[in-house]
Formats: sequence, C-alpha cells, structure tokens
Amino acid sequence: MSYELSEILISEEEIKKRVMELGRQISKDYAGKELIIVGVLKGAVIFLSDLVRNIDSSVKVKIDFLAVSSYGASTKTSGIVRIIKDIDTDIKGCEVLIVEDIMDTGLTLSYLSRIMMEREPRGLKICVLLDKPERHQSEVNIDYCGFTIPDEFVVGYGLDYAGLWRNLPSIYVVRPSI
Ligand code: PRP
Ligand code: MN
Ligand code: MG
Repeated sequence: MSYELSEILISEEEIKKRVMELGRQISKDYAGKELIIVGVLKGAVIFLSDLVRNIDSSVKVKIDFLAVSSYGASTKTSGIVRIIKDIDTDIKGCEVLIVEDIMDTGLTLSYLSRIMMEREPRGLKICVLLDKPERHQSEVNIDYCGFTIPDEFVVGYGLDYAGLWRNLPSIYVVRPSI
C-alpha cells in the first residue's frame, strides 16, 4: 500500500502563531532562569528550532538532544523504549524542558520523563506541538501543548512517514492512495 498527502490539518500560519504563543509563555515562566531544552530526535527538530527563537533573552536557554529507538510499532506498544543517543548535559539541579513533536501513545514521553527525573533536575516540564488524546496508553502531564488533534496519521513540520515529509511547513493528513 502506498500513502499520499491528503488535506492540510494545521497550516504554516497557524503553527507560526501558536509557536509564538508557546515561546511567549515559556519566556514568562522561566524569566531570569537557565533552561535546558531537550529535543527528541528526529521529529522535534523543526518545532524546537522555531520554538527557541520565540523564547526571549530573559531566559538563559541551552539546547541538547537525545534519540530513542523506535524498534517498530509492536515493540513500542510494549512500552520498551531505549535511549540510543543521550544528552551531553548534566541536568542535576537544572530546569529542564523536554520538547517533542507529538504525544501519541505517550510511551516515549512517560519513559523519558521517568529517566530524566532519575537524574534529579530541579524541575522537569514537557512541551509538545501535537497531542493525540485518543491514542494515549500512558498518561503523562503535558505542560505546554500546541494543538490537540484527532486520531489521524499526520506528517510535516518534523513529523514523518517512513522518514519522508518532515520538511513540509504545514501539517498534513496522510491517507492510503487508491
Ligand atoms: C514519533 C514521534 C514521537 C513518538 C510519539 O517518533 O516523533 O517521538 O513517536 O509516539 P508515542 O507517544 O506513541 O511514544 P518516531 O519513533 O517516529 O521517531 P522520529 O521522531 O525520528 O520520527
Ligand atoms: Mn520522535
Ligand atoms: Mg517518526
């Protein structure tokens, strides 16, 4: 089966506006503080790069990345997620914000927040661009959320299908082509 881009779910303009609002909120919440922003490769890269440019200079922002294994869908639903590239930063006693493109089942974020909490940061918050509540298997508290979306397969703005379409500036629904 092959897949094709269907309609735009969230336009470039809508994303831009919302990312600006999130940046403004984060700027307020962390004003005068140092904040380590941890992006989850690869999906979060586009969102993170726009988000950090909307956080003003009142926040001392540092950026780091980690990558988790996806193992294919079946293993992921078993809840087994593994860090394959860790952050370089020691986060003990620091304010940390995990940035993700999407919370789907929530398994990635629940695993990551557990692992990060073991490192004893002063505070840990989570920021996602998209949240798909219908798919949650694991409940994780999201502190900053861009959009709540229905259970559709989406790509663009960092999100991929088989590694493709991350570069699209809007978020599209993908459907099987007939
Ligand atoms: C996707 C997405 C999130 C995760 C969400 O990553 O970018 O990281 O899955 O799913 P979950 O809530 O069910 O755990 P993916 O494994 O596709 O890797 P990628 O970011 O490199 O595309
Ligand atoms: Mn991802
Ligand atoms: Mg992916």
